[in-house]
Amino acid sequence: MLADKSISVIGVGKLGEALISGLINSNTVSKNNITGSVAHEYSRDSLREKLGIDILLDNRALIRGKDIVILALKPQKMAQVLNEIKDIVTENQLIISVAASMTISCIKQYIKKDLSIIRAMPNIPCLVGEGMTVLSKNSISSEEHCALAEAIFSSIGDTVFLDESLMNGVTGLSACGPAYMFVVIEALAEAGVKLGIPRDISTLLVAQTMLGSAKMIIDSKEHPALLKDMVTTPAGCTIDGLIELEEGKLRVTLIKAVVRSAERASELISE
Ligand SMILES: NC(=O)c1ccc[n+]([C@@H]2O[C@H](COP(=O)([O-])OP(=O)(O)OC[C@H]3O[C@@H](n4cnc5c(N)ncnc54)[C@H](OP(=O)(O)O)[C@@H]3O)[C@@H](O)[C@H]2O)c1
Repeated sequence: MLADKSISVIGVGKLGEALISGLINSNTVSKNNITGSVAHEYSRDSLREKLGIDILLDNRALIRGKDIVILALKPQKMAQVLNEIKDIVTENQLIISVAASMTISCIKQYIKKDLSIIRAMPNIPCLVGEGMTVLSKNSISSEEHCALAEAIFSSIGDTVFLDESLMNGVTGLSACGPAYMFVVIEALAEAGVKLGIPRDISTLLVAQTMLGSAKMIIDSKEHPALLKDMVTTPAGCTIDGLIELEEGKLRVTLIKAVVRSAERASELISE
């Protein structure tokens, strides 16, 4: 479905690069059908070499005649770039924005055209094909456009459509979430080091434990508390560890972290 579509990515930073690599490595698109843009010559030159695709400094030239335009810019850069490209964008192009904070209606106000706009919130594990992307569409997004967006992000992980009103929450949860997971892994690996386990092995033990636990949740669709109970033998050692977690307020701290990130997500666009 995507094989014959031309895709342009405005802003090939961390996320844009992960997305392009995923699309190419999964053979979802060929290198000839995907191009990108950045702001600086040094980024352009190194990305050309790294990705083997054409990278431009000119957004207007980049998107002319392309089927799909992906906006992978920092929220603070969106207004400037939308103003720059608005007269080039045509109604048969599909716009996909991965920028946090900026709503579909806000993007439309800049472009001032009735066209299909899909908002996507991926996360960085898309680098290893295990991303989680939430998609929201506008009222005129056709089924074909939704399917195209789904195909793009399915090449780098799992996808789900949700109402756009939940996007800031999604940003705080699954887009910022990998950072929280990395901190948890780092902290647990330190515990292993404290107990004499070499750091690299300790990190592997924790990372594989997190991967396996996540896979159990996804495969079984069981409530996490039920799976936790499977590990918690009465009067065993896990319950002592869990009591420490409760005393350290791990759960409420994680909840507050996500809620704070979601609040912050709503502020970015006004900066
Ligand atoms: N990182 C994540 O985990 C993640 C997850 C979900 C969503 N997002 C969203 O993805 C977006 C990008 O985040 P990021 O982490 O990839 O940021 P980033 O690494 O800072 O990348 C931003 C890119 O935009 C380019 N750029 C800046 N001004 C431009 C312009 N006028 N025209 C063309 N390109 C321009 C920069 O080029 P130079 O390199 O030349 O400066 C850079 O390549 C953000 O809106 C963020 O909310 C990120």
